[in-house]
Amino acid sequence: MANKLRLCQVADVKDGEPVAIFLEGIPALAVYNVHGQVFVTDNVCTHGNAMLTDGYQDGGIIECPFHGGSFDIATGAAKAFPCKVALRTYPMTIEDGWVAIDKPEGGV
Ligand code: FES
Repeated sequence: MANKLRLCQVADVKDGEPVAIFLEGIPALAVYNVHGQVFVTDNVCTHGNAMLTDGYQDGGIIECPFHGGSFDIATGAAKAFPCKVALRTYPMTIEDGWVAIDKPEGGV
C-alpha cells in the first residue's frame, strides 16, 4: 500500500469530465471516466504545453484544447494530428473508493 498514490475519489470523476490532479513530485495527471471505467494518463499534451483536462472528452477520446490533436484515453495512442507521440498511461486500482496508481518510478 505504501507504494500507492491516491489521486481522487472515484465518485468525483464524472463520465466525460476529466479531473486534473497535481501532486508534488509526479507529472500532472488526468483522471477520466469513460462509460463507468476509470483511466489515468499524463495531463500535458505530448505536442505542446496544454492540459488535456481543459480539452474535450468524446467517449474514449480526449481532444487537446490547443491544436485539436487527440489521444485514445485507454491506450494513450495519438489519434489525430498534430499529436504523434503517445501519452503515458497509468494502470489504476480502486482503493476504498479512491482512484490509486503505483507511485511512478523516479517521479517526473
Ligand atoms: S498542444 Fe496539444 S495538439 Fe498541440
